[in-house]
Amino acid sequence: MCGIVGVVGREAAAPRIFEALKRLEYRGYDSAGIATLVEGRIERRRAEGKLDRLAAVLAAEPLPGTLGIGHTRWATHGAPTTRNAHPHGTARVVVVHNGIIENHAELRAELEAKGQVFETETDTETFARLVDQHLLEGMGAEEAAAAALKRVHGAFALAMIFAGREGLLICARQGAPLAVGFGEGEMYVGSDALALAPLTRRIAYLEEGDHAILDHGTVRFFDAEGRPVQRAVRETSVSGAPTGKGNYRHFMEKELHEHPVVLGDTLAQYLEPAQRRVVLPALPFDARAIPRLTITACGSAFLAGLVGRYWIEQLARIPVDADVASELRYRDPPLPEGGAALLVSQSGETADTLAAMKLLRARGQSCLAIVNVAESSMAREADAALLTVAGPEIGVASTKAFTAQLAVLAGLAIGMGRARGTVSEAEEARLTAELLEVPAHAAEVLERDAEIRAMAAQVAKARDVLFLGRGNLYPIALEGALKLKEISYIHAEGYAAGEMKHGPIALIDDQVPVISLCPSGPLFEKTASNLQEAAARGGRIMAFTDAEGAPALSRFAERVVVLPHAGAFAAPILHAIPVQLLAYHVAVLKGTDVDQPRNLAKSVTVE
Ligand code: G6P
Repeated sequence: MCGIVGVVGREAAAPRIFEALKRLEYRGYDSAGIATLVEGRIERRRAEGKLDRLAAVLAAEPLPGTLGIGHTRWATHGAPTTRNAHPHGTARVVVVHNGIIENHAELRAELEAKGQVFETETDTETFARLVDQHLLEGMGAEEAAAAALKRVHGAFALAMIFAGREGLLICARQGAPLAVGFGEGEMYVGSDALALAPLTRRIAYLEEGDHAILDHGTVRFFDAEGRPVQRAVRETSVSGAPTGKGNYRHFMEKELHEHPVVLGDTLAQYLEPAQRRVVLPALPFDARAIPRLTITACGSAFLAGLVGRYWIEQLARIPVDADVASELRYRDPPLPEGGAALLVSQSGETADTLAAMKLLRARGQSCLAIVNVAESSMAREADAALLTVAGPEIGVASTKAFTAQLAVLAGLAIGMGRARGTVSEAEEARLTAELLEVPAHAAEVLERDAEIRAMAAQVAKARDVLFLGRGNLYPIALEGALKLKEISYIHAEGYAAGEMKHGPIALIDDQVPVISLCPSGPLFEKTASNLQEAAARGGRIMAFTDAEGAPALSRFAERVVVLPHAGAFAAPILHAIPVQLLAYHVAVLKGTDVDQPRNLAKSVTVE
C-alpha cells in the first residue's frame, strides 16, 4: 500500500517530497523516508511512525539535494521499523516501492549467492539489490533497471535514483498506479495526481508494464516490451490546495459534519427536484436487458454495495450478486452473457476491487464504477463512472464518502427501476422526494450529537458490542460494527436482527450493548421483538429510531435516540450517520488515533 514520490528538480527536493508525502499518508503511516543525491552520493533520512517523526529527523539533519525520492509505508514484508523504512538500497542505487514483489524469496537467495548482503527483511531491498548487482556487473543505470524489472513478479510501482547520476530518475508500474508530472524544467513522479498537485497539474499516467526515464525536462516512456511509447499528458483537476481540519479536532469529525453538503451535492447530480425525477448519465449497459448485476467492493464501500443490492433488487427487480472483491476475484462465479457489474470505491485505487473489475470485464460484464476520485484508476478503467461528490476524505474510516455512495446507489436503483418499468412515475416521484429530504435530515441527525456522545460513554466501557438491523438496515448494522472496530478497537459484530437466535444471543449479558437500527416501517415489529428477546436476557438495548418507533422501544431500551423520519427507502443513508458518530465519540473517549487508526490505511493498494 504505501505512497511513493520522486522529484527531478532545480531546488531543494526534500521539502517538496515531504509535502507530497503528506498527501500520500492515506496509503499508510508505518514509517516514512526520503533519499536525495548530495554531491553525487545517496543520502537517506528515515523514521518509524508517522510523518511528523520524519520531520523531526529532517530538522535535526537537513537533507540537501535537488533529486530525490520519498516513501510513506504500510508494512507488508518486515516490521514497521526505521531499518525497514524505504528508501532501500546500496551506495549505488535506492528504491521506493508500493506493492509486493512476489518472487522476492527466490531472488534474494540468488543475490545472496552472488555475495549481496541484505540489511532488511523487505521485498523492496531485493529489487534494489538486483539493480545493484547489474550495476556491479557493468550495466548502466537504465539498462540495469530494465533488466531488473524483467525479473520481478507481482503488483507494484517503483521509483529509483542512482549515485553519480544527477538528474536521472527511473520509475515503473505493474499493477499499482503511477503518475508522472511535468514542471518547468523539472519532472516529478507520484502514486497519484493528488501528491503532485501542489507541484504541477500536467500529468501522464504510466500504463500497465510501463517504465519511464525522467530527467530535468523530459520523460521517456517504455512499454512492457521495452519499446519507446507516448503517453497522453492531461491537465488534472485535482486541487493542490491544502486540506485542513478547520475548527474540528479531527478530519473524521469535520467529514461527519460535511454530510448535508456532500449528500446535497451528490444527489443534485442525479435528481431533478422540480419534476421529482432521476436523470442518470448514459449507463454502459441497457438496464432493461441485463440478466443479472454483480456488485463488488471492499470495506465500507462493499457495505454500501450491499444496501444497493436491497434497493436494486426491490426497485429494478434484477437479481443481484454482491461479494467482497477479494473473494469474487478468486471465486470464479458463473457470469451471464450480457451481464453488468457495479464497482464501488471511494479512492478508486483499491487493489482487490481493481482486480475484480479486470476479471469482470474480461468475462464480458459491462462495468460501472461508483467512485469519489474522478481521475482514479477505477474511474479511468471502468466502462463508465458515476461520481460521488464527497470531496477529499482524509480520515481513514469512511464517513461522507460512504453516504455519498448510498446516495448514488439510491438514484441508480430508481433510475434502473424506471428503465425496466418496475417503478412507476408516481413511485419515482415519491422516492425522489424522500431522497431530496435527506440532506436536511442529515443536518438534524448531526444535532443529536450530545445524545450520541452520552451513548458513547457507555459503549466505550464495553468489550463487545452487537449492532442489529433488518432489511436495508442490516448492512448499516455491519457498517456500525466495522466503524467501531476500526477506530475504537472494541470488538463489535453486525447481525441481521432475525439471526440473533442462531448464535449471537448466547453472547448477551449485562455488559454487552446491543445497538439497533429500528425505525418505524414494515420491519419495525419484527426488529422490536428481536430486541425484546435480547432485553429479556439482560441485554442493554440502545436504539436509533424515529418518533413513531420511540414509545414502543422506550419500554425496554436503555437508550433511544430519535432521528427524523426518513422513510423506509432513505433510512440506510440517515442511519449510517449516527453509527459513524457513535464510533467517533467512542474512539475520542478511548483516546485512540481517530484519523489514522493502528494497522489501517485509507487506501488498500495491495491485495
Ligand atoms: C479501507 C478504508 C475503508 C474503505 C475501504 C475500501 O479499508 O479504511 O474506509 O471502505 O478501504 O476503500 P475504497 O477506496 O475502495 O472505498
